[in-house]
Amino acid sequence: MTSRSATAAAHPNIALAKYWGKRTFGHNLPAVPSLSVTLSGMRTLTSVTFEDSLSRDELELNGAEAPEKARLRVSGLLDRMRKASGVSGFARVASSNDFPTASGLASSASAFAALAVAAAGAASVSIDEAGLSDLARCTSVSSARSVFGGFAELPRGEEGDVFLAARPVAPVDHWDLAVVVAVTREGPKDVGSTEGMLHTQRTSPYFGAWVDRAPSVFQRVRDAVVARDLEALGIAAEESALAMHAAAMAATPAIVYFTGATVEAINAVRRLRTEKVHAYATIDAGPHVKVICEGTSAERVAEYMRQVPGVLRTIVTRPGGAARLVSPSGDPLDHAILGRPAQS
Ligand code: DP6
Repeated sequence: MTSRSATAAAHPNIALAKYWGKRTFGHNLPAVPSLSVTLSGMRTLTSVTFEDSLSRDELELNGAEAPEKARLRVSGLLDRMRKASGVSGFARVASSNDFPTASGLASSASAFAALAVAAAGAASVSIDEAGLSDLARCTSVSSARSVFGGFAELPRGEEGDVFLAARPVAPVDHWDLAVVVAVTREGPKDVGSTEGMLHTQRTSPYFGAWVDRAPSVFQRVRDAVVARDLEALGIAAEESALAMHAAAMAATPAIVYFTGATVEAINAVRRLRTEKVHAYATIDAGPHVKVICEGTSAERVAEYMRQVPGVLRTIVTRPGGAARLVSPSGDPLDHAILGRPAQS
């Protein structure tokens, strides 16, 4: 029996210009361009071991056998890897997050970025960052961005695209920005992002307006990131998040990711601005509010957000690094090259 193994770490990312909606052509192509910052302070660790004795891919999530739906998604990415690389055999995958899974904290982004890197490592195939990003994107669009550290963008898909990868916009040390996550619930969310966006696309009268407007908001977000202009970034990022949620809320039946605590937290962020703290809110497909602010005001913002009714705790995050191979316990590897094991 032979076994080939690798472990990768990846961070979630938070979209400052949101992706919401898929093209009707191609495979898992985003309907709008998006831009995110990869976050340190939260991490997915995934190990992939190809074992000759297995008759199918196996998945363990946070120490327990994963639901079939998650196993099939993982198997789909592994199938694409096997097809592209000529590698055969099934794999045992074990993945764990140090933050709530599937609750709107972007766990699928870090999960599939880590899986792509670990799978390539375990199979000993050399795939560059763009290839890994495309591989991850085919399973979950937002994960294409978590392959990169710092700030990354993903263009929308165009007719005929078979390859679509994220690309870096600015490195980790470009800007001492902080994202304070105000956690408002520990359990899983009601409607997953894939399901939520497809339902929005099918039934919301505002989806067309969202798709029309998203590219210009994306451009404003991009310009503001490059110029390190927090006010311009914050205004555009709030616009992107709230327009995405407005489109979802106008679906039939409505998709409401907000809870009372979400609204309280958004109002608290606005109050912070009246106190001359530059803080801006963004919300993904879940009830948590992520507050974008300068690194120097992160602790003050976190303390303020912890007082908000319904906020359970806060996580202070900064721009984080790219997905990478690590030791089985998550420690850095010497001379690790992305997508390729450091040791032979
Ligand atoms: C609200 O990437 O999870 O976080 O491509 O169907 O897997 P699939 O969706 P996913 O959607 C993320 C949506 C979002 C916004 C974003 O990250 O851009």
